[in-house]
Amino acid sequence: MKILAFESSCDETAAAVVEDGRRVLSDVIASQADWHALYGGVVPEMASRKHVEAIAALTEQALQEASCTREDIDAVAVTYAPGLIGAVLVGLSFAKSVAFAWDKPLIPVHHVRGHIAANYLAFPELEPPFLALAISGGNTLLVDVADYTHMTILGATRDDAAGECFDKAARVLGLPYPGGKPLDDLAQQSAGGVYTLPKSHVDGFELDMSFSGLKTAVVNLAHHAEQTGETLDRAALAQDFAQAVSDELVPRTIRAAELSGRTVIAAAGGVAANSVIRADLELACRRAGYRLYLPPLRLCGDNGAMIGAQGYYEFLAGRTAGMELNAYATRDISL
Ligand code: KG4
Repeated sequence: MKILAFESSCDETAAAVVEDGRRVLSDVIASQADWHALYGGVVPEMASRKHVEAIAALTEQALQEASCTREDIDAVAVTYAPGLIGAVLVGLSFAKSVAFAWDKPLIPVHHVRGHIAANYLAFPELEPPFLALAISGGNTLLVDVADYTHMTILGATRDDAAGECFDKAARVLGLPYPGGKPLDDLAQQSAGGVYTLPKSHVDGFELDMSFSGLKTAVVNLAHHAEQTGETLDRAALAQDFAQAVSDELVPRTIRAAELSGRTVIAAAGGVAANSVIRADLELACRRAGYRLYLPPLRLCGDNGAMIGAQGYYEFLAGRTAGMELNAYATRDISL
């Protein structure tokens, strides 16, 4: 079964053709990051407008690269939540038009389910059940993936997402948007151990986390140095910050596996590209005897193929939608 898939929840317009949820026939992305970098972060209205400009040509390209015509496509999958609402609406409206005009089933896909499904594209042997650590610019979740479409949130951030925190810390360190990757590169120039940063604790919810205190601590350190003329060891702060984020995520991931009885763990989302988090997850899983799946870097960030992968399993579960399907800025992954 060939699915034409769309993703437009933030600043990447993406279209892909995926066969049977596992084989990528094409995967094209138009990133707007350079535009948003001019403003230091995503400008929502600009994101919507750039999606409008890019999506039709990108669709042509995805079909061409997959050597497909509309007759070869069996269904249309699209991110319908969560994300910047205007941005999601562009992809959703376009996907609905395609499904309507071509008379194909329409499959709504939760964006974070898509991130998790990126693992199916990289690892043919991976099947649920497993535990997923989904860490991106807008979401930070520990998810029990009981099967392809039954998911339960075991833990989550109470405030900022891990990626948001990376982007903000990078900004005060003078790095360009999106800051996660540049901060990761800078961190590799230092062994760290210079700055003491706060740890979060949510009373009674050991798998929940918070990143706002950590974000504020980095902002305060940078501002304090600026005001007093002290030299900030930027590389050390980047390293200590990345380690602090990892220390929030990795022990809770292992604890979530212990509590849920899962022995397979899959990471997902843009922040899963972070080298400190990847190394810490590898070490922790080896020690605990868990099997770890870390998607290749190109499948960590937003892409259309991951929506096509999850779309296939949503379709098999009968989860298609009619033309009344709406977009949602926030939406529980378990729904
Ligand atoms: O998954 P993604 O592409 O978009 C969302 O669904 O949100 O994630 C984007 C986030 C951004 O915050 C970006 O700075 C972060 O992933 N990111 C990283 C790295 N590469 C991307 N964060 C830390 N280390 C990285 N190497």
